Formats: sequence, C-alpha cells, structure tokens
Amino acid sequence: MQNPERFFITGGKPLQGTVIIDGAKNSALSIMAACLLTSEVCVLENVPQLTDVYSMIEVIKTLGIQVEWKDSNTLYIDPDDFNNYEAPYELVKTMRASFLVMGPLIARLKKAKISLPGGCAIGARPVDFHLKGFQSLGANIVTEKGYIKAEVKNLVGNDIYFDFPSLGATENIMMAATLAEGTTMIENAAKDPEVIELGTFLNKMGAQISGLGTDIITIKGVKELKGVHYRIIPDRIEAGTYMIAAAITGGVVEIKHINPYYLKSCIVKLEEAGINVDNKEDDTVIISNSDIIKSVDIKTMPFPGFPTDLQAQFMSLMSIANGTSIITENVFENRFAHAGDLRRMGADIKIEGRNSIIKGVKKLSAAPVMASDLRGGAALVLAGLIAEGTTEISRVYHIDRGYVKIEEKLRELGAHIRRV
Ligand code: UD1
Repeated sequence: MQNPERFFITGGKPLQGTVIIDGAKNSALSIMAACLLTSEVCVLENVPQLTDVYSMIEVIKTLGIQVEWKDSNTLYIDPDDFNNYEAPYELVKTMRASFLVMGPLIARLKKAKISLPGGCAIGARPVDFHLKGFQSLGANIVTEKGYIKAEVKNLVGNDIYFDFPSLGATENIMMAATLAEGTTMIENAAKDPEVIELGTFLNKMGAQISGLGTDIITIKGVKELKGVHYRIIPDRIEAGTYMIAAAITGGVVEIKHINPYYLKSCIVKLEEAGINVDNKEDDTVIISNSDIIKSVDIKTMPFPGFPTDLQAQFMSLMSIANGTSIITENVFENRFAHAGDLRRMGADIKIEGRNSIIKGVKKLSAAPVMASDLRGGAALVLAGLIAEGTTEISRVYHIDRGYVKIEEKLRELGAHIRRV
C-alpha cells in the first residue's frame, strides 16, 4: 500500500531564514548506476536520503551488489562480483530511472533484462532512443513479455544521433560506450549538469569522454574502469523550488550549497518577475520579494533552457502574479496535472495543448488537493504556503521521491506545515 501521509499547510507566512540544499537526486541516480561499470568499490558523498535513491539501492542490491550507507549521506557500493542482470517489473515500476542500469549491465556483463518502463503521469516517456543507441553499439535487443532483453558479444563504438537531447538516453549510452571497442560519438546529446557530472565521474574512473556540456559527446572506449570517491552536486531543482517558495511568500531566504550557474534560467525568470536574487557567495543566493509579482512567460527546454522540472512550481508563482502569463511545456506532452488542483485553490488557469494560460488572481484559498507527480506535488506545497486557510495535500509520497525532509526545511523557514 502507498504511504497514506498528508501535508496540512496553513498559508500566509513569508518565509525567512536559511535553507541548505541536498545532493542532486538525478545526479545520484545515474552515478549510482555507473558504479556497476567497475569491479572496485565506489564511495559517493552528499547522496540525498530520498525514496528514489532507496529504489535505486534496491535495484542494485537485486543485481547482487553490496550497497551500504557509511553515514547519513555517504554510500559505499561494492560491485566486485555479481552476475544477476535482471531488473524486475516491481522495481522499475516504482522508478523509471532504474532503466539507467541497462547501459552499465550491457557493458559489464554483456547482457541485461530490464522491465520496460510504462508511461507515467507526465507523458508516454518511451525508451526508443536508449534502445536505438544500444543497437548502434552492437547489442541485440528483443522485447518479450514486458521486458527488454539485450545481449552483445562485443560492444563497438559508433556514431549515434538523438532526435531530442534526452538526458536519460545520453547517460545510458555514455555509460555503455565507456567500455566499448573504439570511439562513440553522441550527437544532439543532452547538456544538462547531471550529464556533465556523470561524465566527470566516469572520467575519474578512467573513462575517456570529451565534449561534456556540448551537444556532441565523444567517448573513447577503455578496457576497464576503477573505483573512485565522488561528491554529488547540489540539487538544482530542490534549490529552484526553495527560490520560488521565498518569492511566492514574499519572504527573504538564503539558499546555500547551490551552483547558481546551473540555475541561470530560473534566476533570470525570477528577476523578470520582479524578485531580487542576490549572489552572496559562489554557492549561496538570497531571494527576497516585498513587491507585486509580475507575470512572465516560460518555455521549458532542454538545458540550458528553463527546466521542465521547475515548470509546475513556477505555475504556482504565476497564479498570483499581476497579469497573464503563458507557460509552454516543450519537454513532456502531458505535464499539467497540477493545474487542475491549483484551479481548485482558486487559480485561473486554462490549458490549450502544450500551453497553459495563467491569469494572476489576488489570492489562493485552501482546498483538499492531491499530488499526482513529484514536481506537481511541490507546486501544491508552494500554493499551500500562500493560500488562505489550511490546505490538505494527499499522496505526498510523490513529493518524498525528490525533496529531503521538505516539511522540516519549510518549518525552519517559518512555514506552518505538518505531516499527518
Ligand atoms: C530526466 C529526469 C527528469 C527530467 C527529464 C527532462 C532523471 C532520473 N530524470 O528524465 O527529472 O524531467 O530528464 O529534463 O534524470 N524521449 C523519447 N524517447 C526516449 C527518451 C526520451 O521520446 O528514448 C522523450 C521523452 O518522452 C521526453 C523527452 O524525450 O519527451 C525528454 O526526456 P528525457 O530527457 O529522456 O527525460 P528522462 O531522462 O526520462
């Protein structure tokens, strides 16, 4: 049974204080998968305590690999000797990112059997780019009874072009190609920070990857990789969510342990909306807002564009802006489930295909609402922080997938939020 916990949030309190950002979920997930590429121990620091991370630990353990928490944020992964190559449906259905073990398994064990991830709340999310990429490297792929089976004698480097700069496909192919014979070139690769970090991690293990952060990544295959110590970068989406929380409540919040460069598009849009963003140190910004929020338009795009993972939270902000804004979702075809719940709280939002038209209202009012996905759930928390009355949010397990102790962090900033 899914966790029945709920959040109760009484709105109206401007947030004040300091919040410390945890390690990046999506970076931790791909780097954990990359640990399978070596037979030596890897130690990962700044790993966030999140249910998605626990799901990836389960997947890795199921393969027969030893995984242990050394302390609250340090993971020790010992993939010395394992021979299970199957990630079952029960695990993949709880987290699509489990599919990221496919590349490392093909490279290390020459075979993999992974449950085909289904669609999800935000879109169909096929894995065709991943599969085409593995096939280009010489893998034989068959789909059978809901599983994808891959087998290869020798992975051989090749040129691969993606129709869209998919983050997951870039990561999966990059991992497989590290141990292939010869050179692989990925064109129209994702440029996201998580891809750069994964590549940097792999290079530290002994891989030869160049072009990270550009749309052409080149990977020269090597014979083997070694174990390393690595620190996971801060979570840019968690950071962006707290920035918007400060802005929407009219508060003053110092946000620490971030990389402002990776948050550029969010910072620019907040400034356009009239929010003050002050760089305090290299890894700290202060967000303050005592004024009316201006409406701004947003188009989500692959990095360095505005992240789809902050679209829902920005919609909450725009729902009380002065004027009308248009948010266009270009990455996922069905990522507006939160709009219906925001409407229940008094927001004026119309959806037309990939566009949402948000007419700012003076105030939101509390209502019982339901998180239907991770970031949409976060958007409802933000709306709850300013709504009149007490908002009840169910299905908070979606939110727990990506935010470490969100209610504790918000309470420290003065919010009235309880988990029941
Ligand atoms: C990752 C992130 C997710 C983020 C998304 C976009 C992780 C664990 N998750 O998801 O938080 O919202 O990037 O920034 O890192 N596509 C295909 N075929 C494929 C692969 C992707 O058509 O084989 C499409 C998708 O349906 C989507 C688009 O490409 O429309 C981008 O998806 P992708 O970048 O692959 O997202 P994920 O890696 O799944």
